[in-house]
Amino acid sequence: MSRPLSIALLHGPNIGMLGRRPSAHYGTLTLRELEDLVRGWAAERGMRVGCFQSDHEGSFVEHVHGLAGLVDGAVVNPGAWTHYAWSIRDALEILGAPFVEVHLSDVEAREPHRRVSVVRDIASAAVWGKGPDGYREALDHLAGVLA
Ligand code: DQA
Repeated sequence: MSRPLSIALLHGPNIGMLGRRPSAHYGTLTLRELEDLVRGWAAERGMRVGCFQSDHEGSFVEHVHGLAGLVDGAVVNPGAWTHYAWSIRDALEILGAPFVEVHLSDVEAREPHRRVSVVRDIASAAVWGKGPDGYREALDHLAGVLA
């Protein structure tokens, strides 16, 4: 029997505040509830998920460094870092595993600064504006890429 795929679920700043952020953009789930949902979807796909969230860029970078060789892929919502944090891009590049960039809200239909992503061109795929379902789509993408 093959081992389950190991997927990192990574969240950037303020994502830990889900449930207290504008529901029109982010819905009503807390991060814990979102993580539980993703864990369940992953289990249905024979994947195991490890969750991490940080509001600190350096902590996030170091966490990603530590994942090298331990995960098969990642689902990443870098929050506001998406739009400007080159250190996050570099860390994900170093990781060398396929990752999907996910945003709960429709970043392409909001303020102009949210249309910029410094990670998109190294991401295996990107999903936005689909709420939690975007994470399920990301898992399906990784399942295909890693098959
Ligand atoms: C977000 C979109 C970002 O622009 C924002 O800074 C976030 C969340 C999203 O999931 O829609 O914190 O990544």
